[in-house]
Amino acid sequence: MSNSSPPPSYVRSPGVPFLCSLPVDRALARFDLAGSIVHVEMLERVGLLAGDEARALRDGLRAIGREIEVGTFPWREALEDVHTNVESRLTEIVGPLGGKLHTGRSRNDQVALDERLFLRELVRDVARRIVDLSSSLIRRAGEDAATPMPGYTHLQRAQPVTLGHWFLAQYWRFDRDVDRLLATEHRANVSPLGAGALAGSTLPLDPQYVAERLGFTRAFENSIDAVSDRDYFAEVLFDLALVAVHASSLAEEIVLFATKEFGFVLRTPALGSGSSLMPQKRNPDVPELVRGKAGRVIGDLVALLTTLKGLPLAYDRDLQEDKAPVLDAHATVLGALGALAELVPRLEFDHERLRSAASDPELYATDLAEAMVGRGIPFRAAHESVGASYREASRSAGPTSPVGPTEAVASVDPAAAIDRRGVSGGPGAAPFAEQLGLAARRLAARRESLSSLDRQIARIEELLKEERK
Ligand code: ARG
Repeated sequence: MSNSSPPPSYVRSPGVPFLCSLPVDRALARFDLAGSIVHVEMLERVGLLAGDEARALRDGLRAIGREIEVGTFPWREALEDVHTNVESRLTEIVGPLGGKLHTGRSRNDQVALDERLFLRELVRDVARRIVDLSSSLIRRAGEDAATPMPGYTHLQRAQPVTLGHWFLAQYWRFDRDVDRLLATEHRANVSPLGAGALAGSTLPLDPQYVAERLGFTRAFENSIDAVSDRDYFAEVLFDLALVAVHASSLAEEIVLFATKEFGFVLRTPALGSGSSLMPQKRNPDVPELVRGKAGRVIGDLVALLTTLKGLPLAYDRDLQEDKAPVLDAHATVLGALGALAELVPRLEFDHERLRSAASDPELYATDLAEAMVGRGIPFRAAHESVGASYREASRSAGPTSPVGPTEAVASVDPAAAIDRRGVSGGPGAAPFAEQLGLAARRLAARRESLSSLDRQIARIEELLKEERK
């Protein structure tokens, strides 16, 4: 195609939706404005803007913030993205002075800045919701500290545990998720502004000032890396995918426990709705959907990694595709966690059914072997002998109702057997009480970390508020 022929309709300037990222990056508007306000402050400090110019630009940016908040901002798809929309609206408000806003800046460092600021709030929102769910898990663990239930490996009855121990097993996974999210936020807390398109600027910019004002721990080390790095989004998508996997695993156990076969969880309305065809059905729709959503979040992670793979340095327009998966994963995980946080306090367990399942003699074979070890018999020999007597007993009782040897049947006392499991981190009463205390203290520490993140995030609102003088 010769240079004189008109460009195809999808790249015609002003652009049309194919190039447009507005539907997704509108979500970044508050961060974009806060970044611009601080950028203007910096330009004034280094002498690139006069005091009255800087003030007029900041006032204009804050006016735009109010327009966006009340919904009167004239979003224009033809202007491609949030950055250009803001800048051109600013020029309408303050006149040609608006053209000075982008001094020493590129949309490349600008979008990376917006994303890093957005990530803070994402981490805070998701971590807070995990903490809400966690506090229900811990409360329920305390209530059912002594309720025996069978513990499973390979989905076969294995050894006795308690429902409380099971609730805390669910809790610790989510606790590590909060830790991971906070670590991701910590690594992402570096300001890229000042990197420009990729090679910094000939102007005397002050990236450290910008970093400090926006609550970052430091400014970028390398201008090429600063505009091309998307590690923070890849990491947070992994964190979210693992949260979704943990949520789906909890959900799966609820689905199983609510079957007639298990019967541990009552099929109450909290679990979901009925079938449109089968009058007797009550389906566990809520946990099933939580389980299903994990696939989507994993897909979001894979989508971003696939976009990033093999991209040459520095900025490439492919990177515009980074936002949709993160926004989707964010909303999806918040929804799933919210549903679980509502469901967990409403779960009703059938304690009788749990207790009778926990009285299955098969669960106590290890206890018998360990009792023999206490009498000096080598564990391997004890294992062999108990195994043989269980096999023998199950043959004589028939394959559908295996019964352990007489000694085991007589000695089945779930509470005592659980209590014998006194190893730290085990389900016995003493280590469980310790574990419960530890979980409660850990949860309080997580809340503390989130409050300090709240204070960091509050800077954005402060910057958007009216200048006082
Ligand atoms: N909308 C773009 C994105 O999301 C902003 C950066 C555009 N930079 C550029 N050189 N066209 O990545």
